[in-house]
Amino acid sequence: MTAELHSRRTVLTTGAAVAGAAVGAVALSACSSDDAKSGTAQAPIAAGTPLVALADVPVGQAKAAKAPDGSDVIVARTSESACAAFSAICTHQGCTVAPKGADLVCPCHGSVFNALTGEVKQGPANKPLPSVPVKVENGKVVAG
Ligand code: FES
Repeated sequence: MTAELHSRRTVLTTGAAVAGAAVGAVALSACSSDDAKSGTAQAPIAAGTPLVALADVPVGQAKAAKAPDGSDVIVARTSESACAAFSAICTHQGCTVAPKGADLVCPCHGSVFNALTGEVKQGPANKPLPSVPVKVENGKVVAG
């Protein structure tokens, strides 16, 4: 009789533990899914939005800038009077790249991009940074 009760209690306890583990696994996979999606979508920047003063970007290098919508962009000065811009979101897994001389370096896994073209110089990223249309107006680099 005691052995039967003990056995019954063991089954109930084990069942509750298995159910708890299943709930934990579902919660964990939901968090992973959300993390993978974050950082991949970026709203377009409104045309005419000033990003940085052209004089603040050395020729042949780039500077990180924030768009008014909070998105991270890289503004590169390709010549004395011309510039280009790219999303600062790494095409590997979505970290934010940072200018380093003529390169853009991702702190997460070491990808390196050309600061003037956005092309991949070193993986693991295998796609270039998406370009952002910009132009120079009154000494400022503006979206456009
Ligand atoms: S997220 Fe940039 S190299 Fe992995």
